[in-house]
This record gives sequence, structure tokens and C-alpha cells, in this order.
Amino acid sequence: MTSDTYLLGTEPLELERLRLQHELWLPEARRAWRRADLAPGERVLDLGAGPGFVALELAREVGPAGRVLGLELSASYVEAARALGRGLSQLEVRCLDLSNDPLPVEPFDLVWCRWVLMFLPEVEPLLDRLAASLSPGARLVIHEYIHWSSFGLHPHGEAVGRFGAAAMASFQRAGGDTDVNRRLPSLLTARGFRVDELLPLTMVGRLGDGVARWLERFVTIYGRELIRCGQWSEDDGRRAEAEMATARQDPGSFWVGPTLMETRATRWAT
Ligand SMILES: C[S@@+](CC[C@H](N)C(=O)[O-])C[C@H]1O[C@@H](n2cnc3c(N)ncnc32)[C@H](O)[C@@H]1O
Repeated sequence: MTSDTYLLGTEPLELERLRLQHELWLPEARRAWRRADLAPGERVLDLGAGPGFVALELAREVGPAGRVLGLELSASYVEAARALGRGLSQLEVRCLDLSNDPLPVEPFDLVWCRWVLMFLPEVEPLLDRLAASLSPGARLVIHEYIHWSSFGLHPHGEAVGRFGAAAMASFQRAGGDTDVNRRLPSLLTARGFRVDELLPLTMVGRLGDGVARWLERFVTIYGRELIRCGQWSEDDGRRAEAEMATARQDPGSFWVGPTLMETRATRWAT
């Protein structure tokens, strides 16, 4: 993996996987922004912006009078995000390590974060920095997992299930916490945020639909990486591919995605 430190890598296949994942989850993200009253002219911070798919949508939401600042660890994703946002003066993307670097000193009305905190070995220092930099009234909208192990293919996805367990173990081994959102509400409350709403978000797919393709692609792409690192077997990889091919034709088979939670909170105290 020629990763610039993002566990899942930044190669074209992973970028395309992120695009598919983003397209699938965009309606849910938009519903979250409505619930958080995101409005034109607002200033948004996008934590762990990846290749910029969401930052671009956020920039359209806030319009030219607003501002979106995306922060991202991977230099190649920063470059991709900048190319995507070319021509939109309200969008800026910077290379920054959320684990160690100070946050930009400027006011934000809303902070958006999806599938990022799960990769950080420690979230507390970032939450401390966020609490210190946000003014009362600033909103936080987070989409992170609470039950990653709900991932699976049913009723005949035994090898896919073993892939899921290997993937989870690899995230933990790299210092992340797949179910980080189980801890966020209490960590935020302790730092002067009011938790406004907690919403479970999950997806079910079948017969090669968008959800099925998203989860299949994850098994195929990350499976190769796990095999390369000796954390999953070639034999099981072939079994998983066969299970997925069968499920594509079987109206009784279905996929369940890892369960996310939307955590919406407001900074209320200094
Ligand atoms: C699964 S992707 C999600 C990207 C984007 N948030 C989205 O919803 O499409 C995770 C992203 O988090 C970024 N990331 C991981 N650790 C980071 C860190 N310490 N600082 C900044 N970004 C980080 C990765 O480089 C990657 O782009």
C-alpha cells in the first residue's frame, strides 16, 4: 500500500471506493445538514475531508458568501480535493494532521466529520482543541460508527464475516477505534457541548444494488490489503468472492452495513 499514512490507502481504487461510498451516503449527509440548520453564508470546518467529495457539497450548500475549510492528512487527497473545488472561492483544503496539529484560528458555525475519528489513536486531544476554538452556538455534526461488527452478508457470508473480523482487528491494531462514536457523546458533554440528537444510521442492500456494490468493493479492495499483510487468507478471499457472486443472484441474500450514529451537538459553554 503506497499510503500517505491513511490506513486504507490513497490509491485510485480506494479513491473510487470513497466516491461510491460518498454518493450512497450523500442523502443522509444532506438530511443531517438540514437537521443542523446549515444555511447559506455559514462557515464550515470539514475534518478529514478525504478527496473533497463532501467539502464540495458543503461549499455548494453555503454558497459564495460562506466558507468551507477542509482539513486532511493525505497530501494526495488534498490535491484531489483542490482540483475538485477549483473555481469555488468559498472552498479551501489544507493538509493537516488532526492528531497533532493546531486547528486553524478562525470562527466556524458548523463542524462536519465523517469516518475520520475512528482512525485516530486518541480523539480527546482533538476534542479539547475543538472545544477551545469553537464559540458558543457552533454546531458539530458527526457520522461515525457505533457497531462496526453489524457488517455482514446473510445468510451465507461466513468468509465475508471472517473478512469483517479481520478488518476490524486491523483497524484496532493500527490504533483506531471502529466504534469511536460510542464514546463521543460523553466526551463532548464533558467538554462543554450539549448533545442535541443521536440517530442510528444503517444500510441494507441486496442483488448487487448500490449498498451491495459498496460493501463488495470494500471486501475486494481491503481484502487484498489484508491478504498482503498476512491478516487474511487467499483461500478465504476466494470463498468470499464466491459468496458475493452467489448473493448477487439470490433474492433471499442481503448485506448489512456497519452501523453508524449521527451525533449532533452544540458548543454551549466556554
Ligand atoms: C474514510 S476517509 C473519509 C473521508 C471523508 N470524510 C468522507 O466522508 O468521504 C478517512 C479520511 O480521514 C483522513 N484522516 C485519517 N487520519 C487523519 C488525521 N490524523 N488527520 C487528518 N485526516 C486524517 C484520511 O486521510 C482519509 O482521507
